[in-house]
This record gives sequence, C-alpha cells and structure tokens, in this order.
Amino acid sequence: MIIAIDGPASSGKSTTSRLVAKKLRISYLNTGSMYRAVTLYFLNNNYSLEKDNVLEVIKSIDIDVSDSVEKESIILNGIDVTSKLRTLKVSSFVSKISSNNLIREKMVEIQRKISQNKSIVIDGRDIGTVVFPDADYKFFITASIEERAKRRFEELQIENKSVNFEFVMKEIRDRDYLDSTRELSPLKKANNAILIDTTHLTLD
Ligand code: DC
Repeated sequence: MIIAIDGPASSGKSTTSRLVAKKLRISYLNTGSMYRAVTLYFLNNNYSLEKDNVLEVIKSIDIDVSDSVEKESIILNGIDVTSKLRTLKVSSFVSKISSNNLIREKMVEIQRKISQNKSIVIDGRDIGTVVFPDADYKFFITASIEERAKRRFEELQIENKSVNFEFVMKEIRDRDYLDSTRELSPLKKANNAILIDTTHLTLD
C-alpha cells in the first residue's frame, strides 16, 4: 500500500506522514530529505550544476534512508547527515538541486526502489503526480503562508537558531514559488488527491 502525501514547505506534511506511518505500523519516507542530502553534497564539495558534472556526481552518490518512523536517518555515502539537512543554507539552495532533471530522475528511481514490496507513507512534492500516480491514497496538505512561516520560525527558535520572522517568511515564499513554477514535476495537487488545509488544525 502506498500513501502519497504532497504539499508545500512547512505545511505539516512530514510530521503528519510520520504519525500516520507510526499508527499504521508501516514505513515512512521523507523525499525532501533526499533532495536536501544531495544539496548538502553539492555545497560541501563546491560542485557545479553543469550537465557532465552532475552526471559524474550522481554516479557517486549513495543515499540510504532508515525505515524507522521513530527517528529519521539519512546516510549519504556512509555518513549520517541527518542533523545537517535543515540549515538555512541547505534550504535556500535546495530548489536549484531539485529542479535539475538528472538529479530528479535518480531520486525518483531510489524512491520507487525503497518503496518496493512494502506499505509506506511517502511525502514530498510530486509523489501523487509523478512518483506514484497510482498510489492507493493521495493527500495534499497545505496551510496559509503566514501559518507555515510561524511554524517554521517556532521550530528554528526551539533549535536556538537566530533568525527573524520576515526572513523565514521570505524563504518559504521563495521556495513555494520555485517549487510550484518549475518545469519538471512542479508542486501540484494530483486531481484525485484529498486536500487538507491545516491552517486552523492542530496536529492531531
Ligand atoms: O519537504 P522539504 O521542504 O524538506 O523539501 C525540500 C525541497 O526539496 C523542496 O523545496 C522541494 C524539493 N522536493 C522536491 O522537489 N520533490 C520532492 N518529492 C520533495 C522535495
């Protein structure tokens, strides 16, 4: 069984997906973390997005994700990079990486492989439209931009990161724009997905 959950940044989709997977005792995959791990790899190595270079780099990338819904763990070429994926630097560069067709093809291939022969909740931007158009259940989770920025700001404060609210709001607005206007697999609700607006909803 495949449960596809798509939606914009900080809409609550990942937290919800994890809880649903836990409740149903099935696997969970956060595909945003995969794009973030690739972004980190490019940033750390100063790689360019020139075609031949991308082809070389994706050959050398090995991403392993833990199946555990309790704790996310993303292993990039043998190193656990989970704690480094949600920095503002990665967030502001990730749209460049995720709009690259060669990188997307590779990620989609890994996502389909990970999901083979199991029941899984998988969240992202293109899961119900491109990765698993025949998913058993599809949801599109969203919330107002103000509410999403507020949630992200509070998260960053808990992590002791010093940022201002306007900066967080701009980062989310920019990413919304890039994610939904890109040519390849843009963020889009699948026709048959159930829309859930969480602006005034608690997590439960
Ligand atoms: O869900 P997130 O904010 O961690 O995702 C990070 C970025 O990765 C997001 O800006 C768009 C991209 N992404 C994507 O293009 N396709 C997916 N399936 C998941 C994420």
